[in-house]
Amino acid sequence: MININNLKKRLNSFDLEVDLHIEKGEIFGIIGKSGSGKSTLLRIIQGIEKADVGEIFLEENTESSYIFQEFNLLYNKNVFDNVALPLILKKKKIDRKKIEKTLDFVGLLDKKSFFISELSGGEKQRVAIARALVTNPNLLLCDEVTASLDKFIQKEILELFLKINRDYGTTIILVTHELDVAKKLCDRVSVIEKGKILDTFDVVKDDIINHKSEYLEFVKEFLG
Ligand SMILES: Nc1ncnc2c1ncn2[C@@H]1O[C@H](COP(=O)(O)OP(=O)(O)OP(=O)(O)O)[C@@H](O)[C@H]1O
Ligand SMILES: [Mg+2]
Repeated sequence: MININNLKKRLNSFDLEVDLHIEKGEIFGIIGKSGSGKSTLLRIIQGIEKADVGEIFLEENTESSYIFQEFNLLYNKNVFDNVALPLILKKKKIDRKKIEKTLDFVGLLDKKSFFISELSGGEKQRVAIARALVTNPNLLLCDEVTASLDKFIQKEILELFLKINRDYGTTIILVTHELDVAKKLCDRVSVIEKGKILDTFDVVKDDIINHKSEYLEFVKEFLG
């Protein structure tokens, strides 16, 4: 789905130098310490930042969406209008049914008229995910999307990403420094340090326990 060949970009203290191949339908992790170049690489893949040299080949008809760590939501608009925004920006029809179906998918249909300031962190993350999904992307680029969430909500969001991947076959690239997140979600990971990929390998995935556990049950499971 994606071929990155001989990509180079001079950064402040090192050069980003990457070759990478990502398959259609996989959940691919980019793992590395703070400042290793993960976000820069993801922004280059999305086209919001330019490399100095190199090529990125995306499969034909690739429609990608980018989810920011800080959500980047509009606080003076409600949930519905935030999710409608990409359709407005892309001059597409505001399809109310489609927006409501997307909100239902992320479990937020009952909060569609709420303002962003009235939502919890996990709910804001769901709005950001719905906003990314509403344009039917087949590639989802996620930058530290679970970093600010507590472990219980994080688990719900991880389940949501697995559902997106399973139900729609969406390829997901996930930048994270949290190894337990990668262990639950990723099929493969690359480890990046100072802009260079040290290794790429298959992950033996941990199951996200499927039953809808209650908070107390979850805490006991986690700490037990
Ligand atoms: N446009 C740029 N030009 C020059 N240097 C940059 C640019 N963008 C980022 N950098 C530098 O590149 C390095 C990697 O930054 P980047 O944000 O990609 O790291 P990261 O792995 O995402 O870190 P974190 O886990 O903290 O988010 C940093 O030292 C940063 O200062
Ligand atoms: Mg980053």
